[in-house]
Amino acid sequence: MNQLGEKLTSPLTGTVRVPGDKSISHRALLVAAIAAGSSRIEGLNTGEDVGATIAAVRALGSPCRMSKDRTQAQVEGCGYSGLTEAEDVIDAGNSGTTLRLVAGVCATIPGVSVLTGDESLRRRPMARIALPLRRLGATVDGRRGGELPPLIVRGGSLSGTALETEVASAQVKSALLLAALGAQGITSITEPSLSRDHTERLLEASGVVLGRSHRTVTVDGGQCPAPIELRVPGDISSAIFLLVAATLIPGSDLTVVDVGLNPTRCGALEVLQRMGARLDTEVLREEGGEPVGSVRARASNLQGVQIGGEQIPTLVDEIPALAIAAAHAEGETIVTGASELRVKESDRIAALVEGLGTLGAQARALPDGIVVEGPAAWSGGDIDERGDHRIALAFALAGVVSGRPVRIKRWETVNTSFPEFWDVVSQARGEHGGRADP
Ligand code: S3P
Repeated sequence: MNQLGEKLTSPLTGTVRVPGDKSISHRALLVAAIAAGSSRIEGLNTGEDVGATIAAVRALGSPCRMSKDRTQAQVEGCGYSGLTEAEDVIDAGNSGTTLRLVAGVCATIPGVSVLTGDESLRRRPMARIALPLRRLGATVDGRRGGELPPLIVRGGSLSGTALETEVASAQVKSALLLAALGAQGITSITEPSLSRDHTERLLEASGVVLGRSHRTVTVDGGQCPAPIELRVPGDISSAIFLLVAATLIPGSDLTVVDVGLNPTRCGALEVLQRMGARLDTEVLREEGGEPVGSVRARASNLQGVQIGGEQIPTLVDEIPALAIAAAHAEGETIVTGASELRVKESDRIAALVEGLGTLGAQARALPDGIVVEGPAAWSGGDIDERGDHRIALAFALAGVVSGRPVRIKRWETVNTSFPEFWDVVSQARGEHGGRADP
């Protein structure tokens, strides 16, 4: 404790890496499965979500050999015509990306695919892919007429058409792109604002010709991606927890290296800078069409800001971490235009308001966002992470920064994306050996 009775926490310093980008890992495996030939992918995310995509790729007939530590894969691509109907139900677990992107691939496979997931995924909206996949010519059914999983996709001969998505969702756009690639003729996909463009970049890097304007991507069906050799960059959505912690803990000076810096994913870095964070970002190379580099974060004093509009899709997964930053900032932070947060792995608006309240911070829900009033008088407490990895990680971050005891009800939830969280925090604290989970 210092003289003000604040608990001191160790600064985060040095250089760290975070596990491979989850979004790019899913796409690399699926593009490799539809490529003609053998692909090698390194640096894969080892979480359960990507595990579900590996299982799906195998179930559709594409052999996938994994290294023991599950970071490397060799995938024997079958081309679209080589993929086959799965023998059993495809279980996407907690992973919306797996279910939606694999549904897009299944739309091109003659035969029936049944896709389901865990309790959380079975509550998430699917009409957003069911309706446009039907317009391409697939038969899609599911609970409540295709609104909820399990989904039943009968694929086959698809014809390209002009599609408009109802939400700026990269999962939807990618599902449709993967289906359109196996369709006859030209498909255009227009979204309300630009969502992450990893699928476009990876397809282009493997020789597929796409037409791209700001909100529209066009593809001529029947193109077969070349096999890929890819080292997946670190996940900015995991790095953000370290970067926010380093910004908030006095004396910190931390650099996350080898991290993906795709501009359609980096909105949170811009927001933190607007809040007053001392962040230095450097793009050093390209991997599979993705900019990769380092981000240095130094301890800073933050101010509240407004976040909304077209920036939301570029930071949608980082809002839980930004909410913790906002609760340390001076003044009000207002997030709007983020109603998608209500249909993620949990209702993240409700989960954040509840958890912040438990830990002594002021926050209230908006229908499409959240208002956080800082700075908080932090206490410890018990958090129900609602089975949502990013909520668990956000409140673990709150505990790391405040030094108060925060107990997460089901810590194993972080296995979805970032099981290495404590190892990386320990490394940044200069501790030897890992740290036990809370
Ligand atoms: C993802 C896209 C985002 C994001 C999710 C991963 C992806 O979802 O929230 O964690 O890999 O395409 P939406 O595109 O549906 O918003």
